Amino acid sequence: DGPAASGKGTLARRIAAHYGLPHLDTGLLYRGVAKIMLDRGFPLDNIAIAEVIAQNLDLADLDAEKLRTREVGEAASVVAAHGPVRQALLELQRAFSGQPGGAVLDGRDIGTVIAPEASAKLFVTASPEERARRRFRELVGRGEIGDDAAGYDAVLADIQRRDARDSGRADAPLLVAADAVVLDTTTLDIAAAFAAALAAVEARRG
Ligand code: DC
Repeated sequence: DGPAASGKGTLARRIAAHYGLPHLDTGLLYRGVAKIMLDRGFPLDNIAIAEVIAQNLDLADLDAEKLRTREVGEAASVVAAHGPVRQALLELQRAFSGQPGGAVLDGRDIGTVIAPEASAKLFVTASPEERARRRFRELVGRGEIGDDAAGYDAVLADIQRRDARDSGRADAPLLVAADAVVLDTTTLDIAAAFAAALAAVEARRG
């Protein structure tokens, strides 16, 4: 678990590859619901429609490339605050996490709600400014935003708004599970963050 652009997705993919385990980026589920709402012009606060879309979401239809945009991320954070949407996506995530042999999931509520019995929990974080720098470089690379100070400021504002919404919602807010290892990646590159994550997982596995 961890806030937007903390590096948790990259770490989760690497940990899954290291152990040969399946990986689920649970943010894509909320992004998938949000993208359908946006494409069909439904207001994001229409909880009943968002719930039906979540109930019918097909994992096989989720196209990560199209879902990892700024607009979809923001909308995902809005629909993810609707309790019935979270409920509709719960069983799918529980089934994925409970599959024989294990799995790696990344999200906001994996250690607290989806898999409270998980054998290893990491809470990956970094300062808002560093997360904004990382997300800014990614968006500039994709041509989604201008390579200037105004672009960076807009991304920092996005991150702060999403942090507030993801942490402040009533249903399954972003929280550090009591038994999670907190990994602050502000001053770590990917290799160092991965080494620290792996050490934490190994320590938990005994
Ligand atoms: O990790 P991400 O940026 O792809 O997530 C997009 C949004 O989805 C995030 O702002 C909040 C929501 N989300 C959630 O509420 N619970 C999760 N387990 C994963 C994502």
